[in-house]
Amino acid sequence: MPGRQMIALVRAAMFIAALDVACAYAADIGYLAPPGVPAKEFPSPQRPVAQIVSPTRASEERRDSLNEAGEIARLLDLKSGMTIGDIGAGSGYHTVRLSRLVGPTGSVIAQDVTRRYLIALAMRTQRLKLINVRFALGEPHDPRLPASSLDVALLVHMYHEIAQPYAFLYNLAPALKRGARVGIVDLERPTSEHGTPIELLRCELAAVGYREIATHQLAGDGGYLAEFSPPEVGGLKSPRDIVACGDRTGAR
Ligand SMILES: C[S@@+](CC[C@H](N)C(=O)[O-])C[C@H]1O[C@@H](n2cnc3c(N)ncnc32)[C@H](O)[C@@H]1O
Repeated sequence: MPGRQMIALVRAAMFIAALDVACAYAADIGYLAPPGVPAKEFPSPQRPVAQIVSPTRASEERRDSLNEAGEIARLLDLKSGMTIGDIGAGSGYHTVRLSRLVGPTGSVIAQDVTRRYLIALAMRTQRLKLINVRFALGEPHDPRLPASSLDVALLVHMYHEIAQPYAFLYNLAPALKRGARVGIVDLERPTSEHGTPIELLRCELAAVGYREIATHQLAGDGGYLAEFSPPEVGGLKSPRDIVACGDRTGAR
């Protein structure tokens, strides 16, 4: 067989093998909880929603040079033994680092609405032999996470992509343990430019009953980290009573 044909054959075999592996992971990735309240019960956001364009925000080398993961862990007091949800995990910059931080007595739930990102992340964690990571597919209005499963929900550079933020936040609340916190990292720029003005974030979280604990500036161009406590599940208001925030900053 001529060399070129042989190379094409080997490439095809490698492609089929990779496809097989991806299919095996795909079969394992699904919703971890039954549906919550449907999106139609909630108001839509009164501002642009950013498109999903990438599974990551910046190169991991750049993020490490700013100590992004270390700074967030310090500010949120993340500890070994915790169960942390990496919501909108993408390619898993935080999942990988959180997995090592929480250790064998803790766990990470890597959650995303984009199945192919979760498949690639499952392959990455397998290569790295990280055995304390679970994967959860979500819907744009509902993270589909098990009840009372998380000590902390971490949403990094993804809030502006949530198509139905009021429904999403409402359906996230039951997944949080008593005393759990939500940490949101984003940039102070319009949602149409892949950021969330902090006043808009505060307004949308408050509309669903979340209370702000603190907001910190992150190093470099890392944006801010805003920390919230969720509403008690028994004290959640009716979805019909949630009033959407206008974009008060006018930054569209
Ligand atoms: C820019 S990436 C950030 C990924 C990662 N958090 C990081 O910091 O590198 C945004 C991610 O959020 C996900 N996403 C968008 N809307 C979502 C939603 N409603 N629920 C969960 N994930 C969502 C996208 O699929 C994408 O993986």
